[in-house]
Amino acid sequence: MTKEKGARSRRFEGGLAPDAVEVNSSVHFDYRLLPYDVAGSIAHSGMLAKQGIIPSEDAGTIKEGLLAVEKELSSGKLDWDPKLEDVHMNVEAHLSQRIGDAGRRLHTGRSRNDQVATDMRLYARDHALQLSELIDQLRLALVDLAAEHVDDFLPGYTHLQRAQPIRLGHHLLAYNEMLRRDKGRLLDARKRAGECPLGSGALAATTFPLDREMVAAELGFDGVTHNSLDAVGDRDFVVELIAAIALCQVHLSRLGEELVLWLSQEFQFATLGQSYCSGSSIMPQKVNPDLAELIRGKAGRVIGDWVTVMTVLKGLPMAYNKDLQESQEPLFDAVETLNGGLRVAIGMIQNLEFNTENTRNAVDKGYLVATEVADYLVSKGLPFRQGHDAAGALVAFAIKRGVELGQLSLEDFQSENALFEKDIFEWLDVARVVDRRDIVGGPAKNRILDEIERARTELSYLASL
Ligand code: ARG
Repeated sequence: MTKEKGARSRRFEGGLAPDAVEVNSSVHFDYRLLPYDVAGSIAHSGMLAKQGIIPSEDAGTIKEGLLAVEKELSSGKLDWDPKLEDVHMNVEAHLSQRIGDAGRRLHTGRSRNDQVATDMRLYARDHALQLSELIDQLRLALVDLAAEHVDDFLPGYTHLQRAQPIRLGHHLLAYNEMLRRDKGRLLDARKRAGECPLGSGALAATTFPLDREMVAAELGFDGVTHNSLDAVGDRDFVVELIAAIALCQVHLSRLGEELVLWLSQEFQFATLGQSYCSGSSIMPQKVNPDLAELIRGKAGRVIGDWVTVMTVLKGLPMAYNKDLQESQEPLFDAVETLNGGLRVAIGMIQNLEFNTENTRNAVDKGYLVATEVADYLVSKGLPFRQGHDAAGALVAFAIKRGVELGQLSLEDFQSENALFEKDIFEWLDVARVVDRRDIVGGPAKNRILDEIERARTELSYLASL
């Protein structure tokens, strides 16, 4: 039997230098492509047989052999050999060892260049879907928590200063919106990985009469690529997918930051189960929100993944260059980082307990209803600028007295403007303040309930998974 030497045929006398093997080999990371590589090879060999390019009985032998090799490689029964460079050569070598010449016919009309381009697209498409489903699970956790807290209040902030009262549910639903857009971006990036490169060969396609559409359809692609040079050198879909992942991780970092704030002694807005916090090795009183910090911190590495791939692609001549191998690890890293981040975020949201007394007390301190005082005067016919000015004067007055606006007397209000009547006190009631903001996208109770229903309808498919 011919000794399987992988990519190095008899054209090469010796092996690579040991240091070169280490740098050249990608199998320690591209083993992740195994299921896609096997699926691609099964589709390719089936098509070769149908087209009469290889003996028809070979297709079945190859398929069976590939499935066995996949199983044994993933269970550890077979070893990965770094000298065989990558997942493609490892699979092919094991296959040929197992089934002989049929295995050696598999690579007809194909190159590792269109092979890896196909595998990576399949990986990207599969994981874009998996991640978008995890995003929806996080959305559902947020929506459920929002529904629990429709009747609780907290300060809405700008500049991290208490600004206006809102319902807690409204705050949580803000993340649902960010994540909904993230899902859209992932699925959009997935579309751009929808053309199958197989048939592009090394760079100049092939002389064999391949049925490219058949292979593409079998692998779940939307169609085939239309330029062999571009197809083997294109990693745009990697850039796009990582960009979508990075923005989602940035959103998780914002959630992480808010959790850190809410869990702090300074805010005391919430507590989190011990499964997502750790103690300090030196200060026994501490409960550190490590996981919230990590989903915040990991945004850095995913943004780095995007920068890495952009930098690898910049200035590459046509068509395939080995630099492209460097686009794999950032993709895997971004996918795996977001996957972990989303899982942990789901767990934290499901375990988050709000201290609604504290969030409510925070609303009552800091003159959050000052805008309402101005709006009150406007409702009585005063131009807004004058109303705003009068409200400002009343805030200054209340600060001097060390009280909140609601604690002023009617006389205090009236000495600033005669339009004030005793209904000003009801007007400043927090629930009424919030529920007057009854407009699409606003924090009024019925608007939040509408949004919860809308989100639940969109996410209802999760229940049947
Ligand atoms: N491991 C390689 C990669 O990821 C596969 C393609 C190798 N092609 C080549 N001509 N050496 O890019």
